[in-house]
Amino acid sequence: MSEQVVGGKSFTAVAINCAAKAGEWIKTKLGNHTSLSLKYSAQDLVTEVDKGAETMIRNLVMTHFPQHSFLGEEGVQPGPEASTKALQSVRDAEYLWIVDPLDGTTNFVHSFPFFSVSIALAHKGEVIVGVVYDPIRDELFVAEKGKGAYVRGRRMGVSAEETLRDSLIATGFPADQQYALPLNMKGLQALVPQVRNIRSGGSAALHMAYVASGRLSGFWEIGLNSWDLAAGSLLITESGGRVTDVKGSPYDLGVRHVAASNGHIHDEFVQALQQAESGS
Ligand code: IPD
Ligand code: CA
Ligand code: CA
Repeated sequence: MSEQVVGGKSFTAVAINCAAKAGEWIKTKLGNHTSLSLKYSAQDLVTEVDKGAETMIRNLVMTHFPQHSFLGEEGVQPGPEASTKALQSVRDAEYLWIVDPLDGTTNFVHSFPFFSVSIALAHKGEVIVGVVYDPIRDELFVAEKGKGAYVRGRRMGVSAEETLRDSLIATGFPADQQYALPLNMKGLQALVPQVRNIRSGGSAALHMAYVASGRLSGFWEIGLNSWDLAAGSLLITESGGRVTDVKGSPYDLGVRHVAASNGHIHDEFVQALQQAESGS
């Protein structure tokens, strides 16, 4: 990828470096955050660690690629309308970094060890690099468009389940209790009896990485943002899986209601969600 090397650093190397640095710093702050505030709802939390990690990543990216655009969760006003607007204003940029500096803030606040740093680079709206880092397990999930996806240096592949009945599926419980949560609950009600079991770990980006690495058969959630999904979407497609919205339309940066899977179960999964009217 020689066209992607600037000043000796490839896009992927910078993404990995940012995720590793931010993740290590976040880990040192586990159990020691000093400020906790609410954003869009009583379930939507933010700490000084979320903000500090984003600043660290933004500064590093801008040092290497000052011409690039940057969309980070903490630079955007809370709530779905503001997020959609923020994405619209940059989504056609030539190079756009899409960053969730700490995905799983609720877990971080409670010292529940399941959270991640999610960094994607999109070229004209298409994700070309995706990195998700879990600092607790020191697991770095990396994908480059057309070059596969790796964890701990090993090529990843999705799981082999062919049916929902054999599948382990994850979801999340959205902070938006007016719109997204009731729809997600409809999907949950419908899917629980149809699958092997459901998990909800509390980091959408890490759930996506787990679908890519074959640890989960699928994941869906209503009301996510581009920074929750961009890196994970490339991890999954480069691992042989499928990412769409809950109605089955192909993934793009604007997708908020995601259905991601190993591919084999995808049609059945999307059909079950649609029958439950979980996406509208
Ligand atoms: C949240 C996590 C969680 C999901 C929420 C997200 P945050 O992100 O991904 O798993 O259920 O919908 O908002 O706020 O911790 O970055
Ligand atoms: Ca998030
Ligand atoms: Ca976050």
